[in-house]
Amino acid sequence: MPEGTARYPDPVSLIATSGLTKRYPGAITALDGLTLDVEPGIIGLVGSNGAGKSTLLKILLGLLEPTSGSATIFNLDVATHGIAIRELVGYMPEHDCLPPDMTATDIVSHLALISGLPKAAARERTAEVLRHVGLYEERYRAIGGYSTGMKQRVKLAQALVHDPRLLLLDEPTNGLDPAGRDEMLELIRRTGTEFGIAVIVASHLLGEIERVCDHLVAIEGGKLLRSAPLVSFTERTGTLAVEVEEGRDALVERLTARGLRVAIDGSAILVDLVDEAPFDIVRDTVVDLDLALVRMEQRRHRLEDLFRDDPSVAPVAPLAAAVPAAAAIPPPLPPADR
Ligand SMILES: Nc1ncnc2c1ncn2[C@@H]1O[C@H](COP(=O)(O)OP(=O)(O)O)[C@@H](O)[C@H]1O
Ligand SMILES: [Mg+2]
Repeated sequence: MPEGTARYPDPVSLIATSGLTKRYPGAITALDGLTLDVEPGIIGLVGSNGAGKSTLLKILLGLLEPTSGSATIFNLDVATHGIAIRELVGYMPEHDCLPPDMTATDIVSHLALISGLPKAAARERTAEVLRHVGLYEERYRAIGGYSTGMKQRVKLAQALVHDPRLLLLDEPTNGLDPAGRDEMLELIRRTGTEFGIAVIVASHLLGEIERVCDHLVAIEGGKLLRSAPLVSFTERTGTLAVEVEEGRDALVERLTARGLRVAIDGSAILVDLVDEAPFDIVRDTVVDLDLALVRMEQRRHRLEDLFRDDPSVAPVAPLAAAVPAAAAIPPPLPPADR
């Protein structure tokens, strides 16, 4: 099988849920009528803490039973096809769950045997996946002496050892420093593309997720906020921050006249990026006005932008905020009720 060839079973619905609801004792609704349908790829499952991400992954794995609703993976019903699904899916849980007195080789090959691999194949696959995650020299040392980054790699390796078609990764960068996060994200990306398998990465950090995924599923309070390809999301919420030494108001006026949606944020001018055009317009206008450009950069999206009710609304303040005179005009008062 050539590297990078997708190896998904046909037909290709990766996960689909319908009215999926999970209530925990104590009137906690973790999932609230979640309906989605996602095709294979590297999928980011994003939402703040408590949004229901881990609950969704556990239901997909058959570790938890939903209160109501249904879910499928590769068109297999999770309620009735648990075994078949577990053959196709690898799971990296959120919390530390590795026995400290075992070596990486022992635990990964043990889990490979449990997954049904013959002894020789289990040994071979274990060496292979540990090398893939960058743990080769250290594989005969007890996990208790590992760094958090190494433990996360072992967790990833055990999820891969039985050659799954889908990886479910729950907060894979938890506890890692910035360099460790970068390495883990790169490893996830590489795992998806090199092995030709689908990946669902749950994280509360949108900034990380958007670097590795090609599709985003955003949930909040157990409800779906949006499920869309990353590109379409970026197009909708991009903001260009522009700073000039002097002449900010003149620039705002010109840009507005050119039809751009503009807002002021501290010393920066925020331009709504619906397409690439604003980059050229801003550059040309700055030159025309002979202004000194301090900075021009595309702003990182904030998780809150993703969670807006109306995704078509730009994340910048309305035009009135950029033109104080307009904001100063009070709206007409309703007729007095007498
Ligand atoms: N076993 C449980 N018992 C009771 N409440 C739970 C349990 N697991 C999760 N919850 C609650 O369900 C909600 C969703 O949790 P979770 O799925 O872990 O969200 P996330 O992974 O997005 O942080 C939270 O309010 C959490 O406190
Ligand atoms: Mg979680």
